[in-house]
Amino acid sequence: MTPITIGNATLYCGDSYHILPTLGWIDAIVTDPPYEFRAEGGGMYRAARQGMDQILDEGLADGFDHSIINPLLCGSVVVFCHNDQLPKLLPYLDGSFERQAVCIWRKKNAQPVANKHYRPVLEFYVHAWNRGHHPRGTLDDLDRMIVAMSPRGEAKFGHATVKPDEVMDKIIRNVAPGVIADPFMGTGSTGVAAVKAGRQFIGIEKNPAHFSTACARLAAAQGLEMAA
Ligand SMILES: C[S@@+](CC[C@H](N)C(=O)[O-])C[C@H]1O[C@@H](n2cnc3c(N)ncnc32)[C@H](O)[C@@H]1O
Repeated sequence: MTPITIGNATLYCGDSYHILPTLGWIDAIVTDPPYEFRAEGGGMYRAARQGMDQILDEGLADGFDHSIINPLLCGSVVVFCHNDQLPKLLPYLDGSFERQAVCIWRKKNAQPVANKHYRPVLEFYVHAWNRGHHPRGTLDDLDRMIVAMSPRGEAKFGHATVKPDEVMDKIIRNVAPGVIADPFMGTGSTGVAAVKAGRQFIGIEKNPAHFSTACARLAAAQGLEMAA
C-alpha cells in the first residue's frame, strides 16, 4: 500500500494488523486503540453519555488484538486502555517488555454520571519499554498523571475518542528518541504531537473520514498545504 507523506508524517489508510508488521522496526508505538468495555448501558444516564452511540457504531468498544504490539519490533509502547482492560493488558506487556508504568489522564470535565459504577474521571495508559528505551523528560514531565480537559465541540474533529493535545504532548516528551508510530491513529492526535516535537511519525487509520481529518491536522501542524 502506498502511504501519503506529509512533512515528517507517513500516513496509511488501511488495516493496521496487515500494514504495521510490514514496516519493520519502529522505535516507539504510541496508540489509543479501540477500548474493550460495555458501552451499551447507561440506564437513565444514557442521554448524558455523549458519543457512546458513535463508539458502538464504529466498533470502538470492541477491543484490539494485543499481538499488534510486538516487543521484537519496537523499543517501547504507550497504549491507552479502559479500566476493564488493565487485568489482561498488564500481564501481556509485563511478559513482553522489561519494565512498565501505569499512568493516568485525569479528566477535568468528565461526564457527570455514575451508573452503578465510579464516575469516569480517569483514563489509563501504560508505558512499557525495553532496555535503552526508558521514559525521558524533566522531573515534571515524568509525573505519572496529567490533568486536562477532554476535547469538546470542534476540537473533537467528529471523533468520539479524541485525545487532548496537552496529554499527547506530555506523552511524546516521555517517549525515547526515534520514529513514533500509531496503528490506531484516529484523527491523528499522536501524530500532531509527534511532528510538533520534530519527530518522524507513521500513522495508520482504517476509517477514510478520520484518515482525511488526520491528513489535514498533520498538514496544519507543520504549516503545510494539503495537495489537492
Ligand atoms: C480510539 S480511536 C483513536 C482516536 C485518536 N486517539 C484520536 O485522538 O483521534 C481508535 C481508532 O482506530 C481505528 N481502527 C480500529 N481498528 C483499526 C484497524 N484494524 N486498522 C486501522 N485503524 C483501526 C478506528 O477507526 C479509530 O479511529
